[in-house]
Amino acid sequence: MNMVQQFDPAQVDYSQDLGTPGAESDVKVTVQIDGMPVSVPEGTSVMRAAAMVGANIPKLCATDNLNAFGSCRLCLVEIEGRPGTPASCTTPCAEGMSVHTQTPRLDKLRKGVMELYISDHPLDCLTCPANGDCELQDMAGAVGLRDVRYGMEGENHLDRGKDESNPYFTFDSSKCIVCSRCVRACSEVQGTFALTIAGRGFGSQVSPSEQQPFFESECVSCGACVQACPTATLQEKSVIDLGVPSRKVKTTCAYCGVGCSFTAELRGDEVVRMVPDKQGGANEGHSCVKGRFAWGYAQHQDRVTTPLIRDSIDDEWRPVEWDEAISFAADKLKAIKSQHGVDAIGGITSSRCTNEEVYVVQKMVRAAFGTNNIDTCARVCHSPTGYGLKQTFGTSAGTQDFASVEQSDAIMVIGANPTDAHPVFGSRMKRRLRQGADLIVIDPRSIDLVRSPHIQAEHHLQLMPGTNVAVLNAISHVVATEGLMDDDFVYERCNKTSFKAWLDFISLPENSPEALADITGVDAESLRAAARAYATAGNGAIYYGLGVTEHSQGSTMVMAMANLAMATGNIGRLGVGVNPLRGQNNVQGSCDMGSFPHEFVGYRHVSDDTVREQFSSEWGVTLREDPGMRIPNMLDSAVSGEFKGIYIQGEDIAQSDPNTNHVAEALRAMECVIVQDLFLNETSHFAHVFLPGTSFLEKDGTFTNAERRINRVRPVMTSRTGLSEWEATCALSEAMGYPMPYESASEIMDEIAELTPTFAGVSFDLLDKLGSVQWPCNEQAPEGTPIMHKDAFVRGEGQFMTTPYVPTDERSTRKFPLLLTTGRILSQYNVGAQTRRTDNVVWHAEDVLDIHEADAEARGVKDGDWIEIASRAGQTRMRARISDDIPAGVVYTTFHHPVSGTNVITTDNSDWATNCPEYKVTAVEIRPSSEQRA
Ligand code: SF4
Ligand code: SF4
Ligand code: SF4
Ligand code: FES
Repeated sequence: MNMVQQFDPAQVDYSQDLGTPGAESDVKVTVQIDGMPVSVPEGTSVMRAAAMVGANIPKLCATDNLNAFGSCRLCLVEIEGRPGTPASCTTPCAEGMSVHTQTPRLDKLRKGVMELYISDHPLDCLTCPANGDCELQDMAGAVGLRDVRYGMEGENHLDRGKDESNPYFTFDSSKCIVCSRCVRACSEVQGTFALTIAGRGFGSQVSPSEQQPFFESECVSCGACVQACPTATLQEKSVIDLGVPSRKVKTTCAYCGVGCSFTAELRGDEVVRMVPDKQGGANEGHSCVKGRFAWGYAQHQDRVTTPLIRDSIDDEWRPVEWDEAISFAADKLKAIKSQHGVDAIGGITSSRCTNEEVYVVQKMVRAAFGTNNIDTCARVCHSPTGYGLKQTFGTSAGTQDFASVEQSDAIMVIGANPTDAHPVFGSRMKRRLRQGADLIVIDPRSIDLVRSPHIQAEHHLQLMPGTNVAVLNAISHVVATEGLMDDDFVYERCNKTSFKAWLDFISLPENSPEALADITGVDAESLRAAARAYATAGNGAIYYGLGVTEHSQGSTMVMAMANLAMATGNIGRLGVGVNPLRGQNNVQGSCDMGSFPHEFVGYRHVSDDTVREQFSSEWGVTLREDPGMRIPNMLDSAVSGEFKGIYIQGEDIAQSDPNTNHVAEALRAMECVIVQDLFLNETSHFAHVFLPGTSFLEKDGTFTNAERRINRVRPVMTSRTGLSEWEATCALSEAMGYPMPYESASEIMDEIAELTPTFAGVSFDLLDKLGSVQWPCNEQAPEGTPIMHKDAFVRGEGQFMTTPYVPTDERSTRKFPLLLTTGRILSQYNVGAQTRRTDNVVWHAEDVLDIHEADAEARGVKDGDWIEIASRAGQTRMRARISDDIPAGVVYTTFHHPVSGTNVITTDNSDWATNCPEYKVTAVEIRPSSEQRA
């Protein structure tokens, strides 16, 4: 009997390259591939349909994350009733089509094509770094090529040179088959358009920018072209040095809040390369330079892998075994506790650590230390997000998944620079913008998105630092007074009393664009146009960053954005929402895990008797009902002599927190500072105990990204310190008298799930099965919740909050006439502890101060001059760069290098609700400096 194999869509391996992207259509067409019926969405290519049933058609120029191009002619097929041999990558399936992928005629044609390619290719397979991992080699095998009759004489491209200018990959033009995959990856996936095919015909060649070396071109080293290249033309230098990898482990990037999934490819215990995971929910196969290439810090010689102790910060460090370090630390903390009481000690959790590591630290502080003096580094970045979104929507988290932006019609980016700080999401957003969504940028700086290849912001509101709330109030005023609200949404979904109060407030003439123009620096007509664009687009989405939160009115601004989204009905479906772009990899997670002094895991107040009882009973200890101290309170209390001991997990507060002099004074005043980190950082200068931390390559656990996506972090190599971080914390807790006998990170997550309604369904098993999951994940949402507040807000009715604009105390004065704002750049990350220990320093070896030409000229400062910057908090020196990205009156710098002392000059002003520091506004004066460093 002739059995026809049935196609089962569930059996398709989507991790393999299916040749062309999937089609989005509800209409299905059925075709026969070599006699096997397969139903696919209309628009699916013949190549993809064939790959889905395992009939892989030879290909070179096609790959399934790029649109089909049809240049190599290797993927020819025969279709019954159609003349010729069409390319399967560019031929869509049609109902009833019968395709043959293997025939003698096709074999001959494909062999001919391959023969031509190979005839102009260096025949050095055995010594080529891609040997065994090369599509050209695979295809030669697939088509059965045995002879190459041409190319021994005549013209070829074999003498073309190598470009080794990029620190991470080489470009060997002699191996290029001009398939254009790299060019398309740079345009379609990354959106940088750094590559073109220069020349014509035989002279065609890949060219970075204007035929420049990669390093000097517009390339941002995302590596998408390297990944797309089917030959060794574009090749990671690590593969050339170490050889083709032999084993793989799936894990998650430990840099930013995008949370890209990767496959770490290794030889033995050595990482050879990081390959972005095509099935990663956050990144879908893309990455930036940091995640793909800047992982070398994990094996850097500066890593401290042995515990260190000392009695005084003036002593030398003494390396000791773990047991001695733990009992030394516990004895010191216990002594402080008995002499000064439980409120004299506390801890800080890290947004760079896993959920499980964070959870055990806050548990240790609450249960073993006996205090709620626990805070997190998220205090200094996104705490206003937690506060503002909880007040208005009921949940301290962003509303959408990243893919939602693909449905947005107007995208409002406020105080964020996605192409530098959240690059993979930036690329996704740029794709949508190229498709025609409107872009509104609200930022004092002209960030890349304002004008980049094929993108031009329709609206750039270049406001003065510190006036966010005034601008958002003015936008809402336009919406409210020009009849642009979604009355049905407000009526059905929001609290009417709060809406009425807000409407009365926002409609006041003092909130009009005209009234506020002088304060904000934004002309009224531009602002009105932007407001109309957002409100009338259809799907309006707001994305924001630290340029919103790190202000004295950070929480007010978050609520102002939530008001605007509710008033226009832009909540609860794809394409809309209010979305924080989180800074560090696990900012969302560290907040979720109960790191704030007033909240247990899942944002439940410590004063709630029912919740506290639940934790008390599970942990077997009586818990305090009064909130503990925040980081600034702990530091102030240390300076005044009451707070004496602190456990700091993976955060360099001496560099990253504002007003460095004050932080240093507080740390110096303490009797016991315990630092857990990879490197001896600035904070460790004040520490008595240094507990070596583990890099993400050694961790086992989970990170939660900006879209609430919980991703697995899997140990790629054995811990270099002998203990995982949670084991070290548990050892300290036990030495303090409170054992936490976990056997594994998975067991910690099980406890989190048991105690937290929004995590009730989360387990390592589920994550291994689904890849990742967005919380809430529980009985109502067993596979997670990509979009929140769909039918109702988590708090029930959406709550409008009135948001009066209160100018910051930090204004320009005669003495300090310029406003300094800070940010970060693509190649570096936060305080640079990791990226400074990689080749990324070639792009940013020092922090510089951007200054407008008029301000520079008025002070006699030229491009590249050393300058002194002074604020009322302190002073430092760095080089100046004349820039027209910022308006006159504003200066800008990064804080990636400790030597720059950027935070010496930032003040201790902070958000009224959360104490998040006002990093984004510091009044300063600049003058030329004869010296080079402070
Ligand atoms: S590394 Fe990225 S930005 Fe650079 S050329 Fe390749 S794809 Fe373009
Ligand atoms: S560099 Fe690689 S991807 Fe680009 S055209 Fe050449 S072979 Fe194709
Ligand atoms: S975008 Fe963020 S998470 Fe993704 S690779 Fe880059 S740094 Fe890592
Ligand atoms: S893979 Fe179809 S033409 Fe190249």
